[in-house]
Amino acid sequence: MSPEVLWYVIPREGPYPWEPAGRRPVDLAYLQQLGGAVDRLGFSGALLATDLYDVWSLGSVVAAAAPTFRPLLAIHPGLISPTLLAKMALSFEALFGAGRLRFNVVNGSTESLREYGLHLEHDERYELSAEYWQIVRRLTAGETFDHKGRFYDLKGAGNSLRELHDGPRPHVPMWFGGSSPAGIEMAAENVDVYLTWGEPPHLLKEKLDRVRERAAAHGRSLRIGLRLHLIVRDTEDEAWAAADRLLEVTSRETYARQLGRVEDADGVGWQRQYRQHGGRVPARARELEAHPNMWPGMGLFRPGPGTAVVGSTSQVVDRLHEFEAMGVDTFILSGNPLLEEAYRVGETILPALGVRPRTSRH
Ligand SMILES: Cc1cc2nc3c(=O)[nH]c(=O)nc-3n(C[C@H](O)[C@H](O)[C@H](O)COP(=O)(O)O)c2cc1C
Repeated sequence: MSPEVLWYVIPREGPYPWEPAGRRPVDLAYLQQLGGAVDRLGFSGALLATDLYDVWSLGSVVAAAAPTFRPLLAIHPGLISPTLLAKMALSFEALFGAGRLRFNVVNGSTESLREYGLHLEHDERYELSAEYWQIVRRLTAGETFDHKGRFYDLKGAGNSLRELHDGPRPHVPMWFGGSSPAGIEMAAENVDVYLTWGEPPHLLKEKLDRVRERAAAHGRSLRIGLRLHLIVRDTEDEAWAAADRLLEVTSRETYARQLGRVEDADGVGWQRQYRQHGGRVPARARELEAHPNMWPGMGLFRPGPGTAVVGSTSQVVDRLHEFEAMGVDTFILSGNPLLEEAYRVGETILPALGVRPRTSRH
């Protein structure tokens, strides 16, 4: 079976978008061009992370221009009412087609969520998350009910949503990435797809075994998705030279900002990534290669996924197959610039994974 492969769509885009000089102007037409390319090349959609733009606006404009594009929208629980979120989801699917939406359940950080009036520490946010997403799941599945929990007290939830669906329907799938015990427990009980950033296979295996074990304890099994950045070139030497170049073009300020980030420090996933490079900027990228082709160096200058697979086309394909053998059935990939690299990955890596472009079906 071929894996499901998603790409990444974000408005801060260019050859090295963590630096002003490496960012290109992005507007509505560009984002729709990117979404259209992602759709045609055979990706099943893209992850829309919390970033500069609100994900609903971004997801809607891309979905309007790309007929089968399925966005994975990153949503912090608790910032908007669960009933309103369900209404937004059902409206989206009424306009763009049923089954096109997925949620990426994100936990955020104590510091950044204060701006929105949410004052909850790391593990408490997962308690909120469990309650919030249980409500959203039932509402997007077309249920009506009363609910009284620690965070929400709802009366007749779903009554106003009846006209948006034709009765019971599958809930909007919930994807999730988090590595802390509280996060894994919340995921094991509630989500459909468990996501992780890249790690050397032995560390990843240990974590995935724990996730599967906790899901089984709840009588469930989860799909497993891996989020990886790719630096893929025709030859291995060219790929590592491209990684070296990223280290060269990154400013001291960016390294200092990223390595000094305190706001994400309560994220266990973030800490696991930090340990892979130890906060040291090497003279040559390859000094950080702990497992063949696995490069944790992206974490030195960009938030989020810190591990890239660096190598020739066949090496990158081998690594992805290695992860598939560990039970990974879904990849969320990226490369910079997103547009050019979507084509490169779509035309070289996807065929080797058995994923066909949409255009060939016509
Ligand atoms: C694939 C993936 C995508 C993520 N996307 C976002 C995001 O868009 N916004 C965000 O605030 N956090 C994002 N996160 C971070 C998680 O929501 C979570 O905060 C982080 O993994 C730390 O949680 P932990 O302490 O349980 O490990 C993402 C994590 C993963 C693995």
